[in-house]
Amino acid sequence: MKKKEDQNRLDSYVAQVKERVTNFIGYPVSTDFDYSELYPLFKYPLNNLGDPLIESTYDLNSRSIEREVVQFFCEIFKAPKENSWGYVTNGGSEGNLYALYVARELYPQGMVYFSESTHYSVNKNIRLLNMPSIMIRSQESGEMDYEDLKDAVHTHRDRPAIVVANIGSTMTEAKDDISKIKTMLRASAIRSSYIHCDAALSGAYLALLETSPKFDFPSGTDSIAISGHKFIGSPIPCGVVIVKKNYKERIGQSIPYIGTMDTTITGSRNGHSPLFLWYAIKKMGVEGLKERALKSMELAAYTEKKLQELGLDAWRNPNAITVVMPQPSEDICKKWQLATENGISHIICMPGLTQQVIDDFLEDLRNSLSSSALKNC
Ligand SMILES: Cc1ncc(COP(=O)(O)O)c(C=O)c1O
Repeated sequence: MKKKEDQNRLDSYVAQVKERVTNFIGYPVSTDFDYSELYPLFKYPLNNLGDPLIESTYDLNSRSIEREVVQFFCEIFKAPKENSWGYVTNGGSEGNLYALYVARELYPQGMVYFSESTHYSVNKNIRLLNMPSIMIRSQESGEMDYEDLKDAVHTHRDRPAIVVANIGSTMTEAKDDISKIKTMLRASAIRSSYIHCDAALSGAYLALLETSPKFDFPSGTDSIAISGHKFIGSPIPCGVVIVKKNYKERIGQSIPYIGTMDTTITGSRNGHSPLFLWYAIKKMGVEGLKERALKSMELAAYTEKKLQELGLDAWRNPNAITVVMPQPSEDICKKWQLATENGISHIICMPGLTQQVIDDFLEDLRNSLSSSALKNC
């Protein structure tokens, strides 16, 4: 870098990032990775454009690594061996878009059902795809209200049903129950249906821990999307989407210019992000990833208990690493980067977060609570 002012600008930005990562407890993003062994690859314009399974004339890619990442997720989600396919996306939102695109191509007359706890990407994707949809009520926990689903499906029983299930809703990490969804579809004798699991945060670890309710392919799921930068961790947002192979075959088109099939959402695709996911999976292995999840759950249990000891109505869904609490003061939300909606905030005990950081947050919170109590005297 030549100009001193530009160097200063960069130095101060680096310092700002280093400072902000120390108070990062409100978003579902891991911060504990070290991918320095991969840094030499940043010299190359890796691009996985096109289908990960089909080679392209653009040979500077990480497609073979991407296939191993996809294979790992196919295995943990128990996708049908001969009939599964997927790719590394730019994140959970793109995975949701892809799944809804596939569902629309399968069922052009389909009605989409999703709960009010669903991530905003789903509603946006539905609008992009011009699909009719109905928002279903949620229970207090954030889980779908199955009776409301039943009523809505019944009213539109002449249409195929496309249901988006949350496997870890954004605010409260609630999990929708695929078997209950299927029961509701059966109650209205729905013949054609498609169930997509938005498992952005929780999918990557609940599948390993084999918790119930199950959301894998044998449970009746047609597609699953996760975010890679959340539980696994990546400096660049990324994700994975897995669908049944015969579904994607309905949407692929052969493109002579790239010498492969265009089966994904974007043209150029990040060739570096599959490397991060691959490296993390290989380094930690299934056992390491499970341990990572259990540590996060332990920290979440600790955080929940400590917040309750402060007299706050803090709670957690089963197997969640997200602790829900009443919205604290604006200063606390700003300093600790707490996402807030409808009067509630959450702390997400992601890998990389330590008990010391939680204790520092609790100290700030205690001080803020006692100063507001004094003001109210
Ligand atoms: C439930 C859920 N789905 C989807 C997303 C979007 O994922 P991404 O940010 O990877 O696009 C999020 C993000 O927080 C989420 O919580």
